[in-house]
Amino acid sequence: MITRPRRNHEPQVKGRPEMDVILIAAITADGMIARHSLEPVRWSQDLKLFKKQTTGYPVIMGSNTFKTLVVDLKGRQAIVVHRKDDPQEILTGIDSKRCFIIGGSKIFSRFAPYLTQLYLTYHPLIFESGLKFFGVLNNNILLNLEKKIPIPGSKNIYQFQYRITKQ
Ligand SMILES: NC(=O)c1ccc[n+]([C@@H]2O[C@H](COP(=O)([O-])OP(=O)(O)OC[C@H]3O[C@@H](n4cnc5c(N)ncnc54)[C@H](OP(=O)(O)O)[C@@H]3O)[C@@H](O)[C@H]2O)c1
Repeated sequence: MITRPRRNHEPQVKGRPEMDVILIAAITADGMIARHSLEPVRWSQDLKLFKKQTTGYPVIMGSNTFKTLVVDLKGRQAIVVHRKDDPQEILTGIDSKRCFIIGGSKIFSRFAPYLTQLYLTYHPLIFESGLKFFGVLNNNILLNLEKKIPIPGSKNIYQFQYRITKQ
């Protein structure tokens, strides 16, 4: 059972109130992160930026994402989450000024109450069906766009960095 302690814009990871908890994802124009749960995401064009931004920080992922990784996570503490794990406990155990929630859909949903920022790279794709970026969400989330970064080597693809202002 996940508690939902946050009702305003202040991150409230107990014991780590100052930590940035950043969701980072490549998404399609219709808000999908994969065609199905075991698809390796080879269509992403922002893997170099992902590496640059996450190196040196803990990265948290679900077991399906771990099985389908197309990136080498060298230089990062990789934390694989299972259904028995408590997101709050995992975050409380991290000693870092930031950590990244790297997917997939189930893990994005489970960590939604603790997120402080979203880094989303929109790709010019629409899938016939697939995994929504948040599989389940119990609250609306309000975002403030803070930065837009061009993806090196790609044409007209950008990472949008949002701060969560309220959920
Ligand atoms: N586009 C992107 O940026 C991006 C990023 C990351 C991942 N992805 C893609 O997303 C897909 C994986 O996402 P996903 O949502 O399927 O998996 P996931 O979030 O990576 O992992 C599944 C998680 O849900 C748990 N779980 C499974 N069944 C459950 C249940 N009945 N009740 C509670 N928890 C349960 C699993 O625990 P157990 O280990 O105990 O089963 C695990 O923690 C892959 O295709 C991956 O490539 C895309």
